[in-house]
Amino acid sequence: MDQNELKKQVGQEAVKYIKDGMIVGLGTGSTVRYMVDALGARVQNEKLNIVGVTTSLRTTKQAQDLGITIKDIDEVDHIDLTIDGADEIDDNFQGIKGGGGAHLWEKIVATNSNKIMWIVDESKMVHQLGAFPLPVEVIPFGSQHVFDELKKRGYKPEFRLTNGNKFLTDQKNYVIDLHLERIGDPFALADELIKMVGVVEHGFFLDMVNTVIVGRESGPEILQARD
Ligand code: A5P
Repeated sequence: MDQNELKKQVGQEAVKYIKDGMIVGLGTGSTVRYMVDALGARVQNEKLNIVGVTTSLRTTKQAQDLGITIKDIDEVDHIDLTIDGADEIDDNFQGIKGGGGAHLWEKIVATNSNKIMWIVDESKMVHQLGAFPLPVEVIPFGSQHVFDELKKRGYKPEFRLTNGNKFLTDQKNYVIDLHLERIGDPFALADELIKMVGVVEHGFFLDMVNTVIVGRESGPEILQARD
């Protein structure tokens, strides 16, 4: 089974947790894409009555094209369940997200969700975070100074680029990726980064996820992180 098959497997598994009447947070990324496809099929075939709250313009477009009702996060008073992907998940269920640059909106949606589920292929499960570059979203104004400071602290920063230009998030901010390789204390680093003026959000998602579905050759594995 290739990686895409594993992503599809967990995407299809995850939508089984969505019940009629729910308000569902819809994440971003290639794995979530399969989940939204499967959800669209359920909405069509079973006339499932759900509302989606999206975490990126990409997901909004896909969901609306499939006939899924979308509301803005500020139009709902709660979100029952958010299903999202992740870039790395360690042994303690701490995660890094933001490989697609959507982690700011993803974190806002996750923070306002009663339950959070991550869907990943098995390559995302790691013992220690850091091999995947940690995304830091910064406002453009003064961002070179934030970059210089991150460099001075030894965090190996790199502005994310697309076609030679600085990548812009849906919120019209830049992303600086930190090539750390091994992160000893994610909580300490998360604290340090969020205190830097100009940093909007980092890609650590700590003590947040409730359930992880891991795509494996043998079938989806369901892991309970916390209640
Ligand atoms: C989007 O910015 C990310 O947080 C994604 O959720 C994460 O990168 C996982 O994406 P894939 O499913 O494409 O690997």
